Amino acid sequence: VKTIRVGFLGLGVVGAELVNIIRANRERILSKYDIDIELGKIFVRDPDKKRSIDTEGLQLTTSAHDVIDDRDTDIICECVGGAGTEGTREYIIRAIKNGKSVVLSSKKVLALHGMEILELARSYDATVKFDATVGGGIPVAKIIKECFKGEEIKKVVGILNATSNFIYSKMEKEGLSFEAALKNAQELGYAENDPTEDIEGFDALYKAIILVMFSMKKWVDIKKVKMTPFSKISVRDMKYANELGYQIKPLVIAENKEKLVYRIGPCLIKDSHIAANTFNNYNMIVFEGSNSGILGFYGQGAGSKPTASAMFDDLVGMLIQQQEGGPDPVSSELYNGIHAVDELQEYENNLYWRISVENKIGKFAAIASILANNAVNMEKIIQKDEVEDRMGIVLLTSSVDPETMSRITGQFQDSGVKIHIVMPFLGE
Ligand SMILES: NC(=O)c1ccc[n+]([C@@H]2O[C@H](COP(=O)([O-])OP(=O)(O)OC[C@H]3O[C@@H](n4cnc5c(N)ncnc54)[C@H](OP(=O)(O)O)[C@@H]3O)[C@@H](O)[C@H]2O)c1
Repeated sequence: VKTIRVGFLGLGVVGAELVNIIRANRERILSKYDIDIELGKIFVRDPDKKRSIDTEGLQLTTSAHDVIDDRDTDIICECVGGAGTEGTREYIIRAIKNGKSVVLSSKKVLALHGMEILELARSYDATVKFDATVGGGIPVAKIIKECFKGEEIKKVVGILNATSNFIYSKMEKEGLSFEAALKNAQELGYAENDPTEDIEGFDALYKAIILVMFSMKKWVDIKKVKMTPFSKISVRDMKYANELGYQIKPLVIAENKEKLVYRIGPCLIKDSHIAANTFNNYNMIVFEGSNSGILGFYGQGAGSKPTASAMFDDLVGMLIQQQEGGPDPVSSELYNGIHAVDELQEYENNLYWRISVENKIGKFAAIASILANNAVNMEKIIQKDEVEDRMGIVLLTSSVDPETMSRITGQFQDSGVKIHIVMPFLGE
């Protein structure tokens, strides 16, 4: 029997659940693999804090270095997160340099410092696993490694932020406003008190960077990516999209072209699309392989149990690898060939516009002529509800490049046309 000591950074929502799972599975792992998982030191901020689990016998410490520098600890489970991103990065780097393997939970740290962490892991022959960082309970790294051996992943479409998807589902199904749906999500524990990271798209951005890194081997500098906040959506748009046979979803799109094409923001997708039926706090990741075509993976994207469960799978993978010796095949397959890319291009496709104009004769003609003068094809113009003396209008147009868009925006403004939202359709 080999004893492997596991240290913890953080014992919050996820860390405590991971300790629970380790305790519940210790005997099973022992009898199946002849490995005894020993709980090592655990770094917390406040050792006297009341916790959701029994802390009897746990070695809590307020020094992260007690955990990372402990010679007898083999594996570190990082459950601290991005709250102290710089601190977390330093802990991970020091742990790798100390020869430890690390199971990561923090998408923010991986999205900001992924290249550095993986290069260091490679040079120190350390294993870093991170399956909980993108899709919560969806084992995305294992899927990428196992399912696309002989082909290129051409496109990824994901609903990666469970909070926003929950809010959108409530808006669509129950007609709640964004604010009311957010409040509901907070009451049910699906949204934080400060929901900025989720509803403004940062959480999806971190996950998108990690997903692109491992599925397309491209490392993108986070500062170069623009997002459209998920919060910029109204129940009116949901209703109009439904009338057209579409739904609005908080999407991440990445296309593996010469320039990396991407979008992080709300998008219209056809009712029949596999991601259109992903509701509430569920996530969906759809890969398009050059041979396999479309493969969709559905699961709970957040929550302590699915996240801790994904981390436990990573941990067991590491235990077995340490037992058998040699490099970890999943990680080495994933790390190799990742390179930084500078050339990014925002996703372009046909557009949905919701605009409003003063209710006066000739306004439709003015809109049509501005679009025509800018060589934009108007496929539909639909008159909608009047709000505060302004006529609501939905336009469906061909795609518009950023330069033309800024010209049209100016010309609309001069003609008294207010743009409320512009969103692309997701192509087939
Ligand atoms: N919760 C989820 O559903 C979920 C899903 C996917 C991924 N994750 C990731 O899992 C990680 C942990 O999330 P969590 O929800 O478990 O967080 P949490 O409940 O806030 O726990 C954080 C833990 O880290 C400790 N800590 C030490 N230094 C800290 C600092 N500077 N700032 C904040 N905490 C510090 C805290 O100590 P004290 O206990 O003494 O305060 C606590 O034990 C994050 O990376 C998160 O992104 C979470």
